[in-house]
Amino acid sequence: MQRVDAVAKVTGTALYAADLVSAEGTDVAIAVTAARGRCRIDVDATAAMRLPGVRAIVTPRNAPRLHRATALGGSELSTLLPLQDDLVVYAGQCVALVVAETLLRAQVAAAAVQLRYLEEGTDLAVVDLEQAEARLPKTKRAESVERREEIGRATGDVVVDQVYGTAPAHHNALELGAVIAAWDESGRLTIKAPIQWTEMAALTLAQVFGMGIGDTLPGTLARVMGFSSHQRRVQIVPTYAGGSFGRNNSELFLVLAALAAKANRRPVALQLSRRDTFTLMPYRGETRSRILLMARADGSLVDLQAKLDATMGAAGSFVEPLGKGMASLYDCPNVHIEHHVARLDLNATGWMRAPGLAPGMFALESAMDELAVALNIDPVEVRIRNYADTDPQTGRKWSSKSLKDCYTAGAAAIGWGERRAGVREYPDGRRIGYGMAGAFHPNNQFPGSARVTLLPDGSAEVDTAIAEIGQGSLTAIAALAAEALGLPTGAVSVRWNDPSHPPGAPTFGSGGTLSNGSAVTHAARKVRRAFLEAVRVDRLSPHHGQRDIVIRDGLLVSAGGTESVVDAIKRRAGRPISCKATRGRAAFFRRRPSAAFGAVFTRVAFDPVTGEVRVEKMVGAYACGRVVNPPVLRGQLAGGMLWGLGQALLEQTHPDPRSGNWINRDLAEALVPTHADAPEIEVILVEEDDSANDPTGIKGGGEIGLVGAAAAIANAIFDASGVRVRNLPVRLDALLTPLSDNIDIGGS
Ligand code: MOS
Repeated sequence: MQRVDAVAKVTGTALYAADLVSAEGTDVAIAVTAARGRCRIDVDATAAMRLPGVRAIVTPRNAPRLHRATALGGSELSTLLPLQDDLVVYAGQCVALVVAETLLRAQVAAAAVQLRYLEEGTDLAVVDLEQAEARLPKTKRAESVERREEIGRATGDVVVDQVYGTAPAHHNALELGAVIAAWDESGRLTIKAPIQWTEMAALTLAQVFGMGIGDTLPGTLARVMGFSSHQRRVQIVPTYAGGSFGRNNSELFLVLAALAAKANRRPVALQLSRRDTFTLMPYRGETRSRILLMARADGSLVDLQAKLDATMGAAGSFVEPLGKGMASLYDCPNVHIEHHVARLDLNATGWMRAPGLAPGMFALESAMDELAVALNIDPVEVRIRNYADTDPQTGRKWSSKSLKDCYTAGAAAIGWGERRAGVREYPDGRRIGYGMAGAFHPNNQFPGSARVTLLPDGSAEVDTAIAEIGQGSLTAIAALAAEALGLPTGAVSVRWNDPSHPPGAPTFGSGGTLSNGSAVTHAARKVRRAFLEAVRVDRLSPHHGQRDIVIRDGLLVSAGGTESVVDAIKRRAGRPISCKATRGRAAFFRRRPSAAFGAVFTRVAFDPVTGEVRVEKMVGAYACGRVVNPPVLRGQLAGGMLWGLGQALLEQTHPDPRSGNWINRDLAEALVPTHADAPEIEVILVEEDDSANDPTGIKGGGEIGLVGAAAAIANAIFDASGVRVRNLPVRLDALLTPLSDNIDIGGS
C-alpha cells in the first residue's frame, strides 16, 4: 500500500523544519561552539553585535537563567544547562547563539564573536575506554544474575572467553537539524521540529524555562490532579524528519532554539551545521563487551557471562544498555551480566538505533560463532540446540516466537546448506565466506491515545498527536483504522501533528506502530460498534433489527439488504460518530513476554592481497508479528541491515585527545555506506499471529534489522579469511596484519 505521505514527499510539498524557515520568514539562529573542553571561556560579542542584520547574541554573560530538567532521555540537560556560566565541559559545547536576519549574516557575525579560552589544563582529554581505565574510576551500574545454578566444568566442555569492542559512531542523518521557536506575549512557547516524543519534549522545555507545575506534568496526570483548565504553555508541533533514529529524542537543540527566540523577542529558526550535529546531538559511544560462554560437547550452553563497558560523555546520564537481550536469546542455566560505565571528556552519548542491542548483539553473536567453531557444530545448529521456547527471564511462554522459521528461511535463501560444497574462491583468488547471527528486539508497547471520527461523507479522521519520522506509521495507522471501520484506506486521513489532539505514544523503541495502531484500532472499533447500533435501531434502515451487519468497502451488508455507509449516516442528520481510546500497558502487566526475533545471513568476498571485504549478499528473515504494510517494513529492515554493514566495516568517529573534539566530523571523513557498498539485500517476512499480546497482532520491526547484522558480516569474514576480528569496524589493517605474519615473503 502506498504511503499516505508519499506524493507530498516526492513532490516537495511535505514540509520539513528547515522548509519553514523560508515559509515563515523568521530570523535565523546559529550556535557558536567551543573548540576545546575542560576550560573556562570568555565570550565577547561586542564587535559581532555591530554587524549588519544581527538581532541578538546570547552568551553566558546575558543568557536568561534556566532550570534543571529531569531529561528522561538522559540528555545532558539533566546535568548541564546551556550558556549558564563560563565553564566549558566538552569540546563542541554551545558557548553562544547568534541571531540574524539571514543565515549568512548570522555566520558572518558568529565568526566575529571573540572566544578567549581560560584555565585550560595541559593534560590530554580522556576520550576512550583504554585511557579511562588508566585514569578514571569506572563505576558499576548494574548487575543481574539469572537462574544461577552452580554447574561445574565437565570433560569435553568448551569455553569461549573474549572481548569485543565497537567504535563510537555518529548519526549523520540527511537532515541537519532545524527548530522553529516562538514565544507569544503570554509566555507561551511553540516549537516546530522533528521530534520523537512531543510530550516529553514539552515537559523538559517547561522545566528548563521554569514554568509552573501544571506545565511540567504529563497532560493526563495534570488533568487527573485537578489542573482542569490545563493549557500547556509549551506546544510542540512535530515536522517530518529527514532521518531520526533516536537523535531527535534529545532536547538540547530545542532548548537552544527557545533561548535564542527569547533573547530575540521574535521567532527564530535555529539551524545546526553538520559539525554541530556531532556535539549538539547524541551519538553512540564506544563499547566493550567481555563475553564468556561455556557449553557441553553437544553444544548446550551451561554458562553465559557478560562484563559490559559503556561510555558516557562529560554531561548527561545516558548509558548504552549493552546487556539488553543477552539473557533472552538462549536457554542457559547460568547467566551473569554486569554493566560498567566510564565518563569520558566528550559530549554526551545518547540514543541511536537499536540502543544496546546493536553493539551488544555483535559481541554475543560473534561469541556464539566462536563457540560453534570450537565445538565443530554448525552455527545455526548451535543456536537451535539452545533455543529458548519460553522467555528465559520469566519462564513464561512467548506471545509468539518464530525464530526457527527465520533460521530455516534465511539459510535457504543464502544457500547455507550447500555452502561447503559450493564455490569457495573466485578465479581472481578472492575467497568467499558465509556468516550468520541471530537478532532480537523487545516488543515495546507505550501508552497512546487516539480519537477516530466517522464523517457524514463516509470518510474517517484519526486524530492523534504523534511523530512520523519516516518510518511509515501514518500509513499503517490509516490502514488499521480503515480495516476496523470497513472503509477503503483512502477514506481515512490521519491528523498527526496537532498538539491539541489526544497524545499518542512516542516514536521510539520500535513501538510506534503497535502502540498507536492499537489505540487507533480500539477507537475505530468503538466507532463501528456505535454506528452499527445506530443503524440497527433505525426504523428506516434496511438493517433495522438485524443482528449481523458488516461494513465492507463503504457498504453496510446484512440479511436485510445493502446500503452505503453515506446513506446510513445521512439519515442520522449527518451527525459524525466520534470515539476515543487509550491503549498500552507496561510490559510488567503483560500476559506474555513479547519480542521480535530474526536471523541474518551474509556472503562476503575477501581479497587476501588487499584485505578488501565486499559484502555480496545479506539475507534477513524476521518475525515481527502481523505485517501491516510489507513494502514499508521491508524498507525499514533492509535499511537496518545496511546500517549493520556500516557498523561492521565503516562507521567510526575519532576523538582527538588534545582538543576532546571529533576529528572526522563531516561527511567527507565520517564514512557511511554508499550505494556502491550496498550488497544484494533480501528481506524475508515470517508472519506470525501475535494477538496473544495485543489484538492487532503487531510487533515492532523498526530497529531489529540492525541487530546482529554486523556479527553476521564479521562471522563471514572469519569464514573467508580465517581471521577473527573482534573490534568494529573491521579495517584492512586488522585483516592484513595476521595474514602477513603467515606469509613467507621468500628468499632474496
Ligand atoms: Mo530509537 S534509538 O528507539 O529512537
